[in-house]
Amino acid sequence: MARCSQGWVFLLAVLVLALSTPCSQAYLKHKKFKTKTDVYLSPKFVLEPGVSSNKYFYNIQFPKGHIGLKSFNAEVVDAEGRSTPLNETYLHHWIVLRYYARKSYVEPKQQSPYQLSESDVIWVENSGACQPGSLGQYYGLGSETRKTATHVPGRYAIEVGDGKGLPDGFEERWMLNVHAIDTRGVEDNLGCTECRCDLYNVSRDPSGQPLPAGYTGGLLCCTDGAKCRLKRGFDGEKKNHYLRYTVKWVDWSEFLLPAKIYIFDATDIMNSSAPAAAKHNCQVEYDVAKSCNATGVCLDNKWAKISIPTGGYVIYGVAHQHKGGLGSTLYGQDGRVLCSSTPIYGNGTKAGNEAGYIVGMTTCYPWPGSVKIKNAEPLTLVSTYNSTQMHSGVMGLFYILVAETL
Ligand SMILES: *[C@@H]1O[C@H](CO)[C@@H](O)[C@H](O)[C@H]1NC(C)=O
Ligand SMILES: *[C@@H]1O[C@H](CO)[C@@H](O)[C@H](O)[C@H]1NC(C)=O
Ligand SMILES: *[C@@H]1O[C@H](CO)[C@@H](O)[C@H](O)[C@H]1NC(C)=O
Ligand SMILES: *[C@@H]1O[C@H](CO)[C@@H](O)[C@H](O)[C@H]1NC(C)=O
Ligand SMILES: *[C@@H]1O[C@H](CO)[C@@H](O)[C@H](O)[C@H]1NC(C)=O
Ligand SMILES: *[C@@H]1O[C@H](CO)[C@@H](O)[C@H](O)[C@H]1NC(C)=O
Repeated sequence: MARCSQGWVFLLAVLVLALSTPCSQAYLKHKKFKTKTDVYLSPKFVLEPGVSSNKYFYNIQFPKGHIGLKSFNAEVVDAEGRSTPLNETYLHHWIVLRYYARKSYVEPKQQSPYQLSESDVIWVENSGACQPGSLGQYYGLGSETRKTATHVPGRYAIEVGDGKGLPDGFEERWMLNVHAIDTRGVEDNLGCTECRCDLYNVSRDPSGQPLPAGYTGGLLCCTDGAKCRLKRGFDGEKKNHYLRYTVKWVDWSEFLLPAKIYIFDATDIMNSSAPAAAKHNCQVEYDVAKSCNATGVCLDNKWAKISIPTGGYVIYGVAHQHKGGLGSTLYGQDGRVLCSSTPIYGNGTKAGNEAGYIVGMTTCYPWPGSVKIKNAEPLTLVSTYNSTQMHSGVMGLFYILVAETL
């Protein structure tokens, strides 16, 4: 309550100020709301023709303090800082995870996040909706990153650095996972970006077990260092790359309203009566079989019914799909559209508009208050792909920001 009333006193002060100066100016000039921008480079990763690089970078550079994140944009650049086009370096995905680590703890290189020491690391995942340890990131995109808006509108922001649940002797840190595939000289471009196991000559998973029956492609086959089949005799130099990421943020203040992150997965099989850790079963990836109906329409719809215990107002939404994706929609219980997001395919040659690649996703910015999710409302997520040909290891994710207060 104290928090709330202070906020109102402050709001009143801004309104009073607004009588003497135009409101927007008074609002923007106040240093508390000044948006700061930091641009960072990830540690380097080295690529050579055909090679898949899937790196985990721990304790990355990130704005410090109790802040509200306003946007996170990223792209792959080369050693000279030039944007690398997708037809040479395919950006499969990047994700950013938040965690608390014992101050003295040094993360071992190249361990995946859920393999780190459990007594030294506490993952601070988003608000849901997958099982713990799955899709818990704060941000994450793929080839679409250059043309996908990520900003949080208005007075909303993603609150971090608040120290909630931070044990003594621990500090907040961030991890960046970058998965890129160098497709210079490859025999089958689509197959390499879709991580086809035969092209990578992989028949066992990273732990040495045979691949699951029927597994033709996906993350198990384009692990770090795996190499996709090249055209005979192709040779190309090694190249250094970096993920350049731009974070916009504001110092946290009573005037800001927290936005919660939820990520839905079209492969989720939800069991409401199961205990919390087993309620969801997000697979992250799935395959699209080649299939057309009697009238020659070739569409694949993957859908899941999912709910979140505490609803609120949707203030932002975006889907994540791979090549072949035709869009994704999140529906409410009565069939109303909460948000629909479609891929933007490039049609040029330059980085940001590469022909045939998904270079952006459309986003939703509903007027705050206009799109409401009720507590535990059954939602339906539908992810549509073009099934003229088969696709392996595709994704059907949907990221939304929910505000519980207006
Ligand atoms: C990528 O596209 C550019 C522009 O069309 C072209 O010049 C270049 O050779 C292509 N690179 C590869 C590896 O296909
Ligand atoms: C494929 O992997 C097998 C062992 O798993 C190996 O014997 C074979 O040489 C590999 N082929 C190529 C072309 O790398
Ligand atoms: C859902 O979870 C409950 C409790 O764990 C279990 O008894 C039930 O078999 C599960 N239902 C399905 C369809 O998996
Ligand atoms: C094929 O799919 C399209 C699009 O979903 C639909 O309009 C059409 O009725 C379908 N045709 C048949 C024969 O099922
Ligand atoms: C590429 O797409 C844009 C936007 O959809 C369009 O305006 C432009 O004419 C297209 N360019 C080519 C070369 O097709
Ligand atoms: C699906 O893909 C095929 C070939 O890849 C293409 O010809 C067709 O136009 C696509 N359909 C849609 C609806 O995008």
